[in-house]
Amino acid sequence: MLVVAQISDLHFRGDTEHRGRILAVLDYLQNRCGGAANIDALLVTGDLTDEGTAEQYREAADALVTDIPTLTLLGNHDDRAAYRSVTAPDDAADPYAPVDTALLLDDLLVLGLDSSIPGRNDGELSEQTLAWADEQIAAAGERPVIVSFHHPPVKVGMPFMDSIAQLDPTAFDAFVRRHPRIIGLVCGHIHSPSATAFAEVPLLTAPGVSSTLNLPFEGDDVLNESQPAGMAFHLIDGDRLVTHFRSVI
Ligand SMILES: [Fe+2]
Ligand SMILES: [Fe+2]
Repeated sequence: MLVVAQISDLHFRGDTEHRGRILAVLDYLQNRCGGAANIDALLVTGDLTDEGTAEQYREAADALVTDIPTLTLLGNHDDRAAYRSVTAPDDAADPYAPVDTALLLDDLLVLGLDSSIPGRNDGELSEQTLAWADEQIAAAGERPVIVSFHHPPVKVGMPFMDSIAQLDPTAFDAFVRRHPRIIGLVCGHIHSPSATAFAEVPLLTAPGVSSTLNLPFEGDDVLNESQPAGMAFHLIDGDRLVTHFRSVI
């Protein structure tokens, strides 16, 4: 069985209280769970920083220390060029191109797709990104595939977040349906753990590390201050995906 941990919406922004929630989650993964000894991959599904500045990416790089192989995705609060200026300063690629990543394990392919649109809060998975993902899946043989990204492609019952979800996901729907080895879709953005489906495949959203957002009947404020940081553990056994959620006080 493989274990893929997921943390999302860290929103590094330079304040200590905020960073404390992030460090508590990392400590849980590394010290309680044993890090890479027991966890095969770590997904950080976007909104790594709050304002997408190089300073906040340096703060993130200093804090995100783990021996677990990690895929980092970008969200609407991120900035591709600033991210690359810190993580790959010598990369000659277009600094504004989507940040798409993949992790090929012995028995699993994990894709991290960039659903951000520079300068906007809603998102999409572009033709360029989906074509790249097609190639990755074709090269992965018979392995099952987990596809991760930031913006959900469906409405989740949170009116504001639903207004800044993925734009028309028709092409993504067709992408999922032409790859029967995709066993799960995982994303962030809504700062709320949830389970639904898209294109007849399970779709899981991660809790927010930095904060939880209210459902309409939980309160009028955007933020739900009563909730601690959280994470997801995706367990993959053959073609079966089982997801567990955890809170970290
Ligand atoms: Fe977020
Ligand atoms: Fe977001």
